[in-house]
Amino acid sequence: MQFPLTEEHRLIQETARNFADNEIAPVADRHNREGSFPLELVKRLGELGFMGMLVPEQYGGTGLGNLPLVVALEEVNRVDASTGVTMSVQNSLVCAPIVHFANETLKQKYLPKLASGAFLGAYALSEPGSGSDAAGLVSSAVKDGDSYVLNGTKNFITTGAEADIVVAMVRTDPNHKTRGITAFILEKGWKGFSVGKKEEKLGLRSSSTVQLVFEDLRVPAANIVGELGLGFKIAMHTLDGGRIGIAAQAVGIAQACLDASVKYAEEREAFNQPIGRFQAVQFKLANMATKLEAARLLVYNAARLKDEGQPHGKEAAMAKLFASEMSNEAAREAVQIHGGAGYLEDFPVERYFRDARITEIYEGTSEIQRIVIARHLLKGLR
Ligand code: CAA
Repeated sequence: MQFPLTEEHRLIQETARNFADNEIAPVADRHNREGSFPLELVKRLGELGFMGMLVPEQYGGTGLGNLPLVVALEEVNRVDASTGVTMSVQNSLVCAPIVHFANETLKQKYLPKLASGAFLGAYALSEPGSGSDAAGLVSSAVKDGDSYVLNGTKNFITTGAEADIVVAMVRTDPNHKTRGITAFILEKGWKGFSVGKKEEKLGLRSSSTVQLVFEDLRVPAANIVGELGLGFKIAMHTLDGGRIGIAAQAVGIAQACLDASVKYAEEREAFNQPIGRFQAVQFKLANMATKLEAARLLVYNAARLKDEGQPHGKEAAMAKLFASEMSNEAAREAVQIHGGAGYLEDFPVERYFRDARITEIYEGTSEIQRIVIARHLLKGLR
C-alpha cells in the first residue's frame, strides 16, 4: 500500500532527498568521526525552510505541517541521524510548543529566528534524577518581582551546546508534582546559564548532548510559555509530536540499512555467486522491506492525524515504538548481511547500527511508549 502523498509532499521529499544526498552525505562521516556539529548544514536546512515546517507563515515558517515534516525528516535521517535529530528537535520540540502555547509577543520574538535557522533551540525536560519519570524534576524557579530565579541542572540536552534559546521545564510549585511545573524560554547569554558536561556517545556523534546548568538564572516572568503550572502538559503534548519525528528518524535509518544491504547483496560474492542469490539473505531483505513499509505507514498516519487536529498520542507512541524497534532489527540484519565488513567503520552500516540504538531510548523509551499506549487502551481503569 502506498500512503497517498500529494504532489507537494513529493516535491518536499525530492528537495530533502537532494539536499541529503548532495550536501549532507559528503561530510556526514567526517562530522561523525570528529564528533563535530555540522553547523553549516543546519544553517542550510534553515535557508531551505526545513527548520520552520510547523511555524505558520506569519512568523516566518512554511507552516507545511507534520506529514511534510516526517517525509523530509526521513530523507535527512537516511543519510545522517545526527543532522536529523537536530532538525527534529528544532521543529517538534522547540518551535511547536511556542506555536501552540506561547503568547503573541514570544511568538513574534522567537519564531522567525528559529524558523530561519538563525537561532537554534533545545528542549530541556530530563534531569540527572528524572528521565522516564519526567514529573520528578527538581530544578526550581522562585518568583522575585517580575522575574523568576532558576537553579538546577538539565541532562541529555540535544543541541544544548549550540542552542541560542531553550524551552525548559522547571518546578515552580514543590507541593504539586505534575501541576507544579512551568515552561520557560531561556536565552543562552543570560547570566547564570551555562553549558555543562558534554556527553561522549555510542551514536549520533555529530549532534551535541550536554548538561545545562542554571545558577541563580534570572528569567523574566514574560518568558513563561502558556501559564504558570502548565509546563508538564506542554511537555507531554510536545512529546506527542516529537515522537512522530523520532519515528521518522528510525524509518530513515532503516531505509539506509536496507539500501546498503541490497547493494552489498548484489555486489558481494560467496561460493561463486552474489550473496543476494541465497535465500538466507533474500529473506532478511524481504523482512526488512516489509517491516519498514509498515513502520512508514504508522508514522505517516500519526502525522496526518496530528495535522488534522485529531487525537494522536496513542498513534505517535505506536509509531515510535514500532519504528524504533524495527530500525534496530534492520540495523542488526544489515550488519549481519555485511558479515565482517559490517563491523568496520569503512562501511556505513556500522554507523547506522550505532545511531539506531537511541531511537528506542530518547523522547520516551520503548517501555514508556508501551505505558502510553496501554493507558489509552485501559481508560476505564484510570
Ligand atoms: N498531552 C497533554 N497532557 C498530558 C499528556 C499529553 N500527551 N499526557 C499526560 N498529560 C497530562 C495528564 O492529563 C495529567 O493532567 P491532570 O493533572 O490534569 O490530571 C498530567 O499531564 C499528568 O499526567 P500523568 O498522570 O499521566 O503523568 P505521569 O507522571 O504518570 O507521567 C509518563 C506519564 C507517560 C510516564 C511521562 O512521564 C512520560 O512521558 N515520561 C517519559 C519522558 C520522556 O519522554 N522524556 C524524553 C525527554 S526529551 C528528549 O529525549 C529529547 C531529546 O533529547 C531528543
